[in-house]
Amino acid sequence: MSFLTQLEWRFSTKKFDPEKKLSDESVGKILTAIRLTPSAYGLQPFHVVVVTDVEIKKKLQEASYGQPQPADASHVFVFFSRTDILDRIDAYMKLSFGDESGSEKAVKIAERFRQMAGRYEGATGAEWAAKQTYIALGFAMAAAAELEIDSCPMEGCDFAAIKDIFDLPEIFTPVLLLPLGYRAEGPARSKTRFPKEDLFTNV
Ligand SMILES: Cc1cc2nc3c(=O)[nH]c(=O)nc-3n(C[C@H](O)[C@H](O)[C@H](O)COP(=O)(O)O)c2cc1C
Repeated sequence: MSFLTQLEWRFSTKKFDPEKKLSDESVGKILTAIRLTPSAYGLQPFHVVVVTDVEIKKKLQEASYGQPQPADASHVFVFFSRTDILDRIDAYMKLSFGDESGSEKAVKIAERFRQMAGRYEGATGAEWAAKQTYIALGFAMAAAAELEIDSCPMEGCDFAAIKDIFDLPEIFTPVLLLPLGYRAEGPARSKTRFPKEDLFTNV
């Protein structure tokens, strides 16, 4: 199965089979895809909470205006963006440079990062972090499709309510849910996509 074939196979699953569960190995592979997702400056300004708890999944369903996927799916990945960019830069430098993080080269790089981070404060920063988070979502969905695991990206949610479900520090903002599991039924219709001429231009 190639990646492109699997893109035809996948669809945003509305009805998951509540009896079918993902193996820990599969979950680990999808998390690896998220971890390997590229991000601007490598700062990975996101965090994913992996939910299997039945009560929390029910609460996520309520916060998704009753959509059934979060309750029925085996796992729900809750994608949070994070806005602690300056602290993130320090942590990144330590990770990347280790004992050398005080070196002239590392200090210069950190300084450049900080100048950049100035552009990502407040609302701009939240938007920037959310964009990076969506790339991670894309990688997670692609990895799931490769493994023949069904998923449904979900934005149709009350994110204030979702924030209240998880008692995370203020720097974390929920931006998206990704229920994962196995389809109880196939797609209701074949894929609807705008034509190539609408989407692409050659120059
Ligand atoms: C960011 C995003 C948010 C979405 N939110 C929802 C949602 O809340 N509920 C839902 O059933 N589908 C949701 N979808 C699925 C889209 O409706 C679906 O991807 C689109 O119709 C194309 O269909 P396909 O994914 O089955 O190919 C969302 C998709 C994306 C990418």
